[in-house]
Amino acid sequence: MPAADRVVTDVARRFLDVRALTDTLAERLSPEDQTPQSMTEASPAKWHRAHVTWFFEEFILRQDPGYTVYDDTFRYLFNSYYEAVGERHPRPDRGLVTRPGVRDVTRYREHVDAAMVDRLERGDLDEAALELVELGCNHEQQHQELLLIDIKHLFSTHAFGPVYVDREPDEPGVVTPVGWRQFEGGVVEAGAVGSGFSYDNEGPRHRVYLEDFEIADRAVTNADWLEFMADDGYRRAEFWLSDGWATIRETGWEAPGYWRDETGTRSPDPADWTTYTLSGRRRIVPDEPVAHVSFYEADAYARWAGARLPTEFEWEIAAGSLGAQRGALLDPGRCHPGRAGSAMIGDVWEWTASAYLPYPGFVPANGAVGEYNGKFMSDQHVLRGASAVTPAGHERLTYRNFFPAPSRWVFSGLRLAR
Ligand code: AVJ
Ligand code: FE
Repeated sequence: MPAADRVVTDVARRFLDVRALTDTLAERLSPEDQTPQSMTEASPAKWHRAHVTWFFEEFILRQDPGYTVYDDTFRYLFNSYYEAVGERHPRPDRGLVTRPGVRDVTRYREHVDAAMVDRLERGDLDEAALELVELGCNHEQQHQELLLIDIKHLFSTHAFGPVYVDREPDEPGVVTPVGWRQFEGGVVEAGAVGSGFSYDNEGPRHRVYLEDFEIADRAVTNADWLEFMADDGYRRAEFWLSDGWATIRETGWEAPGYWRDETGTRSPDPADWTTYTLSGRRRIVPDEPVAHVSFYEADAYARWAGARLPTEFEWEIAAGSLGAQRGALLDPGRCHPGRAGSAMIGDVWEWTASAYLPYPGFVPANGAVGEYNGKFMSDQHVLRGASAVTPAGHERLTYRNFFPAPSRWVFSGLRLAR
């Protein structure tokens, strides 16, 4: 009997729902699509599907002496970065792992699904183990987004822009001028309160002092970005951090990731530009939030605009005052941002000015999963909100995403503050 038909408990239901979305996202990918690694930072889709499965096997199932490990070599092949678990396959070479093949990874997923449902239905997991199940579900949701950004990167390298999901082109809309929302400074509280799931890096909730600030009522759009480009934003060192200037000189970047100048004129007319989307190469939609910019580009844009990036705390206070408003989250039939609106959570992750640091009193989770977030707290920047490829329900006001400053294969954009 398929695991799904045996389920009675809420946790097992939750587990299988998360697992099913990964399968839905992977169904459109052939074994060939699922195998290559297009750059060190990205991973093959097959690897994502196996790694999230290994997470449940390693941290929950293996604790039970009665569990039969599917294949002992998978611990080496699909451990991402847990030193406490042991040696692992080098990250830059994940695309060379042709075995297990996609069909065997599917069987591995089925084996672990069945064992997990058995375990959950037996009802003997303690509180700590159930927390690991919820962490495993959130982990798989993170990898659903990573699978999509990594496939986008891989497909973008193909000369004919393969289509991951077919969708109608968006008509260009009206770009509204930016409005500013004003906030009074003072001592505020930020961070997760501890009811419901959050990652260890979102706490402890603590006090922060803010000066008065203003924050834009929408994200920076493609139309805004074209103005920056037309004003030679990518050629004027005065706007750039030293590392950012070095990066654009080295890479030759003169537009956001995936953009292409179809006329070779570098004209600021959106009609002259295309961008690779998960639905293939498309015209630039002026009123969409700009996506696939690095922290360096976001910071330079803000300086050009006479503004700055918000800190992650300003961002959290401003977003908290908007309540439940959401921009686009993952819709497997779309996988692309909507028009820039008033919501702060959704469409694109927003770079903040904040370094990714521990909050005062931060303590990593116990055991090997303590390596999940804490050990990456150097040389990275915090992004807030969520993107159009973040699974719905995974987004949160206090969520702290983080990437190194030059990264731009994430759906990363920005919003101004001053
Ligand atoms: C928070 C997106 C930077 O990509 O390593 C996946 C998410 N953590 N598995 C990453 C994550 C463990 C993490 N980011
Ligand atoms: Fe992971």
